[in-house]
Amino acid sequence: MSPLPSNRTPSERDRDAVLHPYTNLVRHQEIGPLVISRGEGVRVFDDSGKDYIEGLAGLWCTSLGWGEERLVTAAAEQMRRLPFYHLFGHKSHDPAIDLCERLLALAPVPMSRVFLTGSGSEANDTALKLLRYRAHALGQPEKRKVIARDRAYHGVTLATAALTGLAVNHRSFDLPDPAVLRAACPHYYRNGLPGESEAEFSTRLAAELEAMILAEGPETVAAFFAEPVMGAGGVIVPPADYFPKIQAVLEKYDVLLVADEVICGFGRTGKMFGTETFGLRPDIITVAKGLSSGYLPISAVMLSERMVAPIVAEAGRIGTLGHGYTYGGHPVSAAVAVETLKIYAERDILSHINRVAPGLQEGLRSFANHPLVGEVRGLGLIGAIELVADKATKVGFDPARGIGAAVVARAQQHGLILRAMGDAIAFAPPLIITEEEIGEMLSRFARALADVTAEVIKA
Ligand SMILES: Cc1ncc(COP(=O)(O)O)c(C=O)c1O
Repeated sequence: MSPLPSNRTPSERDRDAVLHPYTNLVRHQEIGPLVISRGEGVRVFDDSGKDYIEGLAGLWCTSLGWGEERLVTAAAEQMRRLPFYHLFGHKSHDPAIDLCERLLALAPVPMSRVFLTGSGSEANDTALKLLRYRAHALGQPEKRKVIARDRAYHGVTLATAALTGLAVNHRSFDLPDPAVLRAACPHYYRNGLPGESEAEFSTRLAAELEAMILAEGPETVAAFFAEPVMGAGGVIVPPADYFPKIQAVLEKYDVLLVADEVICGFGRTGKMFGTETFGLRPDIITVAKGLSSGYLPISAVMLSERMVAPIVAEAGRIGTLGHGYTYGGHPVSAAVAVETLKIYAERDILSHINRVAPGLQEGLRSFANHPLVGEVRGLGLIGAIELVADKATKVGFDPARGIGAAVVARAQQHGLILRAMGDAIAFAPPLIITEEEIGEMLSRFARALADVTAEVIKA
């Protein structure tokens, strides 16, 4: 074995050791990583000490920002008391019980049990499996198809990547699975037909959904997965009457709604859950990310009594519920999640979000007249600016030009970390962000956009 760290830089060592997710691995060998070494509030610092405002709260998750000492203490105390235990075979522990009780009390619709998992993908994978389990329990094993939408993001396990409706998550992975049916993305700006109103657009999508369910046979369709606001697909906020019309169809054919609240949960849209913001009636809600403010991996599947009763009966018949992860409901993660939920309540995070959100939303909309900006969208503390080559016709840039990526790269130079989904630039800062910090974030963005605009004009 070669000797450990020498005088090589972290960037050189990274390139010889780390295989990065969601990264162009060829280009990475040329440019290396941005090595982040610490964080404080809404900022992170690289290994040279340069500061960046984290405009996406890491991966939409670090809601309380960096350096929240109460979470550090909760983890340390739990680590000393009981660093590991599990929930298999009739075992339990206080942090898991406490967390599940708190989630049931917070749930936006009546929920009766919580299954703890480790990531957003595991939570949605579990939801998929429990839907099948329930179908067997009810003597309807053929009711196992699920519907997910174009541009959805539900995870990257083999099953959840099949739900995800993005080409990069399918290409060269032999996906998607034929048991996943694909519904349209409710992006009116892009998918509305010429002359179609938002209301007509929603009516059309609901009619297409109904036609799909009827063509497949309602007795074969178990559930419809939906993020209240689609995140990784480009921050898509549906028209106001989209979900009411979709839910009417689902309920007509006994197709359950799974609300993927992995991004929207815990305040992001201005209410505790996107389910409340959009009046959803899900039988399953999955949460992760903001559940622990991203400090430790943990996620959860909240289940209505319609799900729980048959699952319990089926496990009784089989002799066990044959599903569970070693780290599902890990006590240290659960203790940190409990502390996170206490902080949200004590600091009244929702009031703070609703105080500062207009600053973000109006600030983003102040770019609407910019010649490269096609659409500005968002609510609460989530939003996106979509760049286009031609404002009037909505024609986008040639993807090969990488305009979105160029803005993100420029923003990084100006001390702002953002993410581009194609040419849509997403914003989802830590929920603790102040009005002044929002102003600073947007002025750093303005400089990046000005740089790229100058380059586009020159080209
Ligand atoms: C809506 C949504 N669901 C599921 C996931 C998957 O979560 P994880 O990356 O923790 O597996 C994500 C991740 O970004 C997400 O945004």
